[in-house]
Amino acid sequence: MGSVAGKVAFITGVARGQGRAHAVRLASEGADIIGLDICADLESMDYPNATLDDLTETKRLVEATGRRMIARQADVRYYDQVEAVFEEGVAEFGRIDIVLANAGVIRLASEANPQLEWDEILSTNLTGVWNACRVTIPKMIECGNGGSIVMTSSTAGIKAPATMLAGGQAYSASKHGMIGLMRTWARELAQYSIRVNTIHPTGVLTGMTQNETMAAMFADPTAMTATMQNALPVQILEATDIADFVEFLVSERGRYITGQTLGVDAGFLVN
Ligand SMILES: NC(=O)c1ccc[n+]([C@@H]2O[C@H](COP(=O)([O-])OP(=O)(O)OC[C@H]3O[C@@H](n4cnc5c(N)ncnc54)[C@H](O)[C@@H]3O)[C@@H](O)[C@H]2O)c1
Repeated sequence: MGSVAGKVAFITGVARGQGRAHAVRLASEGADIIGLDICADLESMDYPNATLDDLTETKRLVEATGRRMIARQADVRYYDQVEAVFEEGVAEFGRIDIVLANAGVIRLASEANPQLEWDEILSTNLTGVWNACRVTIPKMIECGNGGSIVMTSSTAGIKAPATMLAGGQAYSASKHGMIGLMRTWARELAQYSIRVNTIHPTGVLTGMTQNETMAAMFADPTAMTATMQNALPVQILEATDIADFVEFLVSERGRYITGQTLGVDAGFLVN
């Protein structure tokens, strides 16, 4: 029997990258998936977000495991959109056990419009996590089965990048900010056996890093990415490496882990 057999997971940013890897991994371990993704670019973006085709592909991969998936286009910045997808999923699957607040955006290079970059990053990475949680938590409590909430932060949520650029400042602030949210809910929800943690990946091979803007950043020795080095001899992790850890964390094996900031960082933070 799979490690999350019969459970239901709600995942944001599910169309590609880590969100897709989590969906496929949890489905292969027996969970049904409710997932959403914006499948569109934000105004200030300097790399592309996922597409509707990506979302369709995630659904296909989940269903290939034999599990079910509700996959919808929605924007985590807006409570109503998140709520609509979640309500549809719960009406179909009847319960909620796992929430992965994973959707996020980054802006490292440009600074065409600092205010817009700040607003879009904070509203996606921090307000979006808050929305995913406040939409799902009441039902999780009502179900009475406990649960596990994982917020995807970053190494930048513990070790801030040194930068004058609004995008880097906003990314760091958003990823630090969710630790406060995590600790607040970890304390409040422990009475219901609902666990809440943040994970802090180092660089991961996804659309966020595999694009022209990021490639130019890594080629520039003066850019802050030049100082991004893992201690372990690996340059970048696979999305499945993060999914391996998330599957452990949300399963029974992780049952006494809550309120923690958990690095999946190849030693980036000790370097
Ligand atoms: N890739 C890395 O190196 C890395 C490292 C540390 C942390 N992270 C974090 O991991 C999480 C997942 O990112 P990824 O690496 O899979 O990158 P990704 O860009 O491939 O995936 C992010 C997904 O979120 C979606 N999204 C963006 N804004 C949204 C919104 N407003 N509403 C709904 N969906 C939205 C995108 O369309 C995309 O599918 C993010 O929170 C990111 O900040 C990434």
